[in-house]
Amino acid sequence: MFLSLAFVGVGLLAMKANAEEYFTIQDGELQRPTGYREWVYVGTPVTPNDMNNGKAAFPEHHNVYIDPESWAYWKDKGEFRDGTIIIKELVSVGSKTAVSGNGYFQGEFIGLEATIKSKKHNPNEPGNWSYYSFSTPDHAALTDTAKAFAAAACNACHQAAAADDFVFTQYYPVLRAGKGTGQVATGGFTSSLK
Ligand code: HEC
Repeated sequence: MFLSLAFVGVGLLAMKANAEEYFTIQDGELQRPTGYREWVYVGTPVTPNDMNNGKAAFPEHHNVYIDPESWAYWKDKGEFRDGTIIIKELVSVGSKTAVSGNGYFQGEFIGLEATIKSKKHNPNEPGNWSYYSFSTPDHAALTDTAKAFAAAACNACHQAAAADDFVFTQYYPVLRAGKGTGQVATGGFTSSLK
């Protein structure tokens, strides 16, 4: 255990020396990120139509991932680094019953959104965060690129209601537990539920 922790420590140092961005912005458009299902998964909020008079703004499950280098930085410093990308993959509400009971179970992938914190790319956005969607209007496909939304469309609500630097960490226990611990991702390492 000691050896493996030391090894990860060296790995983190190596990453810091060579900070990598997990996205490409060309001519003001974000290229559709790839490979994010291999990143760090932080949670799945769902705001189903049934509980919102049939008119939820985002009626599907939202599987949320953070890029691995930003996760390492978050654990070390307790902040989102310049260059953070967080993905929100939309998944339809599929079945509402299972042998375990009634509920909201994940159906199919139906969309993709992202937010990026970058002084270089978003010098004038509140908190340097920009917001993107790759979902087509019919949710049947994804676009190759996306332009950032105007701050009023996305950024403003995040600024007003998100718990930690525009990110809704109040709904992501993985992020809350990892924040600034300086440790290998917990879960099973201690007897605490954190
Ligand atoms: C009315 C408030 C509101 C608006 C407007 C809004 N969001 Fe969010 N967003 C949320 C909430 C609440 C969450 C977390 C819970 C959830 O996913 O339902 C979230 C989560 C996210 C996440 C995951 C990372 C995070 O910050 O928690 C992304 C990415 C995201 N939204 C993108 C967008 C985009 C793109 C737009 C504009 C098209 C947008 N949001 C507009 C409230 C909002």
